[in-house]
Amino acid sequence: MPPVNYAGKLVLAPMVRIGEFPFRLLALKYGADLVWGPEIVDRKILDCKRVVNDKLHTIDYVLASNASQVIFRTDKRLEKDKVIFQLGTASPELAVQAASKVAADVAGIDLNSGCPKHFSVHSGMGAGLLKTPDKLVAILEALVTEVGKKFDIGISVKIRILDTPEETFTLVRRLVKTGISALTVHCRKVPMRPRERAIPDEYLAGIAEICHAAGIPCIANGDVTCRDDFNRIKKQYGVDSAMIAVAAESNVSCFAAKTKNDVKPWSEIVKNLYDLCKSTDNHYSNSKFMLLRFTPGKSPMYQRIAQSKSYKQGDEVMAELANEQPQVNERQLDGNKRKLENEERTTDKRKTAKINLDVSSGVTVSLVG
Ligand SMILES: Cc1cc2nc3c(=O)[nH]c(=O)nc-3n(C[C@H](O)[C@H](O)[C@H](O)COP(=O)(O)O)c2cc1C
Repeated sequence: MPPVNYAGKLVLAPMVRIGEFPFRLLALKYGADLVWGPEIVDRKILDCKRVVNDKLHTIDYVLASNASQVIFRTDKRLEKDKVIFQLGTASPELAVQAASKVAADVAGIDLNSGCPKHFSVHSGMGAGLLKTPDKLVAILEALVTEVGKKFDIGISVKIRILDTPEETFTLVRRLVKTGISALTVHCRKVPMRPRERAIPDEYLAGIAEICHAAGIPCIANGDVTCRDDFNRIKKQYGVDSAMIAVAAESNVSCFAAKTKNDVKPWSEIVKNLYDLCKSTDNHYSNSKFMLLRFTPGKSPMYQRIAQSKSYKQGDEVMAELANEQPQVNERQLDGNKRKLENEERTTDKRKTAKINLDVSSGVTVSLVG
C-alpha cells in the first residue's frame, strides 16, 4: 500500500479553475485532509516541462511553448503527501506517460471517469470511460503497475453512478480488482445536473461494501457540506471518506465547519485567498475568478474585484475590504442554493439576505435585509 491513506478523510474535490495551488493550500489550512487538483488532460501535461521555481520553492509544470503558462504548481513541503493529481485520459499509454511525469511530486494520481462535459465524453474521457469499462480497467491496471508501484503513490478513480445499482456494482467489482488504492463515487448519474440532489440511497452502501471486500476505502461525493454530513454518511452508508466540491467552492472553511452554517465570513476567506494567490504568484485572472466565487454579488467588493487587473490594483481593493465588517451572505451557507444561483446568474434576480456573524463565537446572530 502507498504511503497516502485515503480512509477517514474529508477531502477537496477536483475542480477545474478552482482547485489551483493557492486554493488547495487554503483548503488544507481550513482542515481538508487531502486535496485533489483540477483535471488535467494527458496531452496537456505531456506538453509541459517541469521547472524548479527557486523564487517560490515550487515545482511548476509550464507549457514548453509558453513558459509563462503554469499548468500545475505544487510545493512538496506544503502538499506532497496531500495532493492528488487528477488525470483526464482515454489511453493507457498516454495515461502512464502523463502520470509518470508528475508522479514524484504528488501523493497520488486519480483517473477522472465522471466528467459529463462534451469535451471529455466525445473523446472517450471522463464519463465516456463508463461506457467503455474494458478501457477504463486497462487504464487503471496500467497506472497501478507502471506508475503506482514504481513511484510508491496511490492510484484512484472517480466515477459517477450508472442507471441502476446492479450495473454500478458490476462495474465497481471490476474496478476494485485493478489494484487501485481508493474509489470515489459521485452519487449522481451522468445526465444529472449539479442542482439535482445526489441519490446515494440505493447505491452507496453497496459500493462501500464491494470496496471493503477488496480492502480499499470508498470516498463518497455529492452534496456533502460539512463534518456533520461526513459523520452522518459514514454511519448511514459505511463509507470511509467524503469529498466536497460546491460547498468548498462557496466557502472553503466548510472543512473546519461542524455544520454547514458554521462557515467563516466571506471577507476572511477572500483576504486569506488573496494573500495566498499573491504570495504564490498565481495568474491574476485565475485569482480573480476564484475570489469572485467567494464574494457576494451584492457586495460593492464584487465589482471592485471584477474590475481589478493586477495584484497592484488588488492590493487597493483588499485594503478597502480590511475596513469592512466581517459578513457572510446567504448563498455561502448552502452549496445547492449556490448551484441554482450559478444557473440563474444571467438574470441575477436572486434575493441576498445578509447575515451578521459573530466571529468570536461562530454563531449566526441575526438576519438583516
Ligand atoms: C467548478 C467545478 C469544477 C469541477 N471540475 C471537476 C474536475 O476537474 N474533475 C472532476 O472529476 N470533477 C469536477 N467537478 C465535479 C466535482 O468534483 C464533484 O464531483 C461534483 O461537484 C459533486 O460534488 P458536490 O455535490 O460536493 O458539488 C467540478 C465541479 C465544479 C463545481
